[in-house]
Amino acid sequence: TKYYAEPFKIKMVEPIKVLSREEREEKIQKANYNVFALDSDDVYIDLLTDSGTGAMSDQQWGGVMMGDEAYSGSRSFKRLMESAKDIFGYEYFQPVHQGRAAEKVVMPMYLEKGKVAISNMHFDTTRAHVELAGARAIDCVIKEAQDTVNYHPFKGNMDNERLVTLIEKYGPEKVGLIIITVTNNSAGGQPVSMENIRETSKIAAKYNIPVCIDAARYAENAYFIKQREEGYADKSIKEIAREMFSYGEIFTMSAKKDAIINMGGLIGIKKDTALYETVKARTIPLEGFISYGGLAGRDLEAMAIGLQEGTNFDYLQYRIGQIEYLAAKLDKAGIAYQSPAGGHALFIDAKKMLPHIPYYQFPAQTLALELYKEAGIRSCDIGSYMMGNNPDTGQQIESEFEFTRLAVPRRVYTQSHLDVIVEALIAIKERADQLNGYEITWEPPILRHFTAKLKPL
Ligand code: F0G
Repeated sequence: TKYYAEPFKIKMVEPIKVLSREEREEKIQKANYNVFALDSDDVYIDLLTDSGTGAMSDQQWGGVMMGDEAYSGSRSFKRLMESAKDIFGYEYFQPVHQGRAAEKVVMPMYLEKGKVAISNMHFDTTRAHVELAGARAIDCVIKEAQDTVNYHPFKGNMDNERLVTLIEKYGPEKVGLIIITVTNNSAGGQPVSMENIRETSKIAAKYNIPVCIDAARYAENAYFIKQREEGYADKSIKEIAREMFSYGEIFTMSAKKDAIINMGGLIGIKKDTALYETVKARTIPLEGFISYGGLAGRDLEAMAIGLQEGTNFDYLQYRIGQIEYLAAKLDKAGIAYQSPAGGHALFIDAKKMLPHIPYYQFPAQTLALELYKEAGIRSCDIGSYMMGNNPDTGQQIESEFEFTRLAVPRRVYTQSHLDVIVEALIAIKERADQLNGYEITWEPPILRHFTAKLKPL
């Protein structure tokens, strides 16, 4: 696979250092074998998330200096409105401080006790806001997403047949919202096809259920549609994005991903003025006045510019090309991952690499810790360690998958960094049978993976 060279040159650098193996062993022991407890200064290549970790361009930094910090009627707010309208084709937009803030504003508008939200897959915070609103979140991804080996171009798709069954089962009046997450992060950054989005929106319209798009990685999704779906090869990323968004009535977006900013979010409302009034009324007490929504004027300016840069084809080709380059190297080395490679991350199949480590000794966490010890790479477990215990029985849940997620920040690492990652994985694979798992020595009751303490077996 070709490496598409960076469509930019570097004019500012941030030094990173490689600690010795002994130093890393000491740091990870001090962190109680929890990657979230590591100081980022002790990390060489940080693949914990692609969220808010991208590099802004000279244009964006220039925009930061031009930010209008007026409380109301800010010039930067106007620029953001123009930029967003150009991309999404919606009438109204509300900035907020990040994706989950958009969810906090929007979910209670549609959901309450007794209702359900159905999504191709809810991201953790989306699920949390559905549940905080009193409703229940149901995932409805196609079954091909469960197969990590065989190729499917759009493993993030909604299972539309099952969607109909679910609507009939709960009753359409009980389904408060259908959420389409593009790309499908929890399934491995897998895209959703235009045909699938269109079909979902038809079903929603038939039952009179509103559609919300979780737009965190919408531009990456548009790129995959252009590459893989018939009829879209000659359309621009913006044309594809506009069609995608035409199938929803509202969107929530973390702008920390495809808008390439370090902090920010956006709500879009297609055309319903009453809906926009509600969004405004809810945003003011929760996030701040409508023309800033919890952000500084300079952040609005950077978002306006980043939205445009994030839809640039050469950039997306390089960006997704990086993940595909990593994947091709792993194919050669016989290392399994959720295939095909997703848009923002590779999910390494730790079950296949460490088959002798049972789920209750956390193979994906073991691999994440080994990557740190081997080369100072920080990744994270998306498997039994993250799943935690069954709240009723207290028993460790056995996750269907044991993935170690390598999320790649935007415009940050070079081909050489990617080669370091591949070399580290190959070295670990060669001595995989000698690795032991971990056990938890302390854990909090919920979301334990962030703060739990572990020890090697
Ligand atoms: N929706 C999706 C699909 C996401 O991936 C995220 C964040 C959010 C919503 C929430 O946005 O962080 O700005 O509040 N995903 C990050 C990740 C944290 O690492 O995958 P936020």
